[in-house]
Amino acid sequence: MNVATDNWREVQATAKQALTDELVAFIDGCCSGPEPHSNLIAVLHKVQHHFGHLAAPQLDAVAQLMQIPAAKVAGVASFYHFFRLKPRGRHMINVCLGTACYVKGADRIAQRLIDELGISWGETSKDGMFTLEGSRCLGTCGLAPVLTVDQEVYGNLTPDQVPLILDNYLKKAREEKQR
Ligand code: FES
Repeated sequence: MNVATDNWREVQATAKQALTDELVAFIDGCCSGPEPHSNLIAVLHKVQHHFGHLAAPQLDAVAQLMQIPAAKVAGVASFYHFFRLKPRGRHMINVCLGTACYVKGADRIAQRLIDELGISWGETSKDGMFTLEGSRCLGTCGLAPVLTVDQEVYGNLTPDQVPLILDNYLKKAREEKQR
């Protein structure tokens, strides 16, 4: 009996279980090309798109199936800001920190969000409702200072509007729960 081969199959099977058939097929396709490792970012994007973030079991599975050292896969995932290693909240808050918004008080908006939610940049509130992120110009400078919650744009903000915006989403969540 070839022990190494048996173990290899087991490792591959475990890796596949951490993903979906579609993701495994995508990885297989990437690995059949001339430079499989160059597809790592594309694979991580696809995995994140499906799961919402890149958790350790999925990163390990990608490493196994692509035959890339796990440390390298984890390094790539943590290097790029567009990869998320923790689950995101139900709503994504994006505060514009571009020049026009900054001049109009984006820092005070951001601080109010941080105080209200009790979290810092990139973190998710304890109730799982909100993830807080900052970004460069959102393209609506005329409304500065601006933030978005998911696809919704809120402009001409004052810090006192922040709790009202948050309450709105919390209220909707409560109503949905009661239905
Ligand atoms: S700088 Fe904030 S929208 Fe442009």
